Amino acid sequence: MADAPLVLGVETSCDETGIGLVRGETLLFDAIASSVDEHARFGGVVPEVASRAHLEAMVPTIERACREAGVALRDVDAVAVTSGPGLAGALMVGVAAAKALALSLGVPLYGVNHLASHVAVDIVEHGPLPEPTLAMLVSGGHSSLLLVPDVTHDVRSLGSTIDDAAGEAFDKVARVLGLPFPGGPHIDRAAREGQVVIDFPRGLTTGRDVERHRFDFSFSGLKTAVSRWVQAREAAGEPVPVADVAASFQEAVTDVLTRKAVDACRTHGVGHLQIGGGVAANSRLRAMAQERCDAAGLELRVPAPKLCTDNGAMVAALGAQMVLRGRPASDLGIRADSSMPVTEVSV
Ligand code: KG4
Ligand code: ZN
Repeated sequence: MADAPLVLGVETSCDETGIGLVRGETLLFDAIASSVDEHARFGGVVPEVASRAHLEAMVPTIERACREAGVALRDVDAVAVTSGPGLAGALMVGVAAAKALALSLGVPLYGVNHLASHVAVDIVEHGPLPEPTLAMLVSGGHSSLLLVPDVTHDVRSLGSTIDDAAGEAFDKVARVLGLPFPGGPHIDRAAREGQVVIDFPRGLTTGRDVERHRFDFSFSGLKTAVSRWVQAREAAGEPVPVADVAASFQEAVTDVLTRKAVDACRTHGVGHLQIGGGVAANSRLRAMAQERCDAAGLELRVPAPKLCTDNGAMVAALGAQMVLRGRPASDLGIRADSSMPVTEVSV
């Protein structure tokens, strides 16, 4: 695809400044600058700190991406940017930078949805998405089951979290266990040394909840159950078996996620499952999803862990699909939309 469109993707919805370069369906380079260390001592992302870090990292990250990909900015055919959802100030930095780039290069701008980008990134790793795709998006801000007939303009929500997102639950439980922020990777690591010995609750999987919330998730009860369990141990003056709690919590989350995802595939007659978002980097989720998809005769597609967490390649991947499918470009007057709905693929 030497003459396929070269798209530069800009991602700034949270704490990663991501610049990706994708030609057609091929990833050339993915440059990331993260401000995660600046937020760690606050136990969560501080929006103002994230925005300033994006401003400082933007130009050096664009330069690094072009250098490593071996392309010049003047070769770029289109610019894609996350227009939402995410932190308003952080998004604004990316949207402003992308507008400036598109204007100065004289190329079209595509303002795209961060969540659809998490699905589209799989294209640069595993090729075109089957249509429709059943996608499960599990990140720090979202947990959704999506039916995706066309990632460039038709994304339908089957269900989502009614309280905490899966990644948020990982981050909060990590805090209870005294593990650093962001907690997901630390719980993943700790769990490898532990055993699943505590039977933590699986939200919305029994009784009438299943009728009303078949494809929805709830993780706040699980988070509270873990806190209470740990507090009871501490009150009794007993040591907290961090690895076992981590393994048991992780098992409860991944059990619910994979059970509902497989059920959604069956119900909607879709033969494959795609998983995206930061929590898709979780080793137990990946293994359990593989086991359950194999048992159900479903094909599983999960990108490499570094493409599951936020990055610019995912935005460039979706932007390239928009160009290849002749979707209309965005107006240069687009705004960042911090609460952009998952069903709105582009602006
Ligand atoms: O997609 P992402 O990078 O940012 C958002 O759009 O939210 O997801 C970040 C989330 C965090 O909550 C982080 O703890 C979680 O993904 N995460 C993980 C793992 N790696 C990142 N959760 C579980 N296991 C992991 N290995
Ligand atoms: Zn994300």
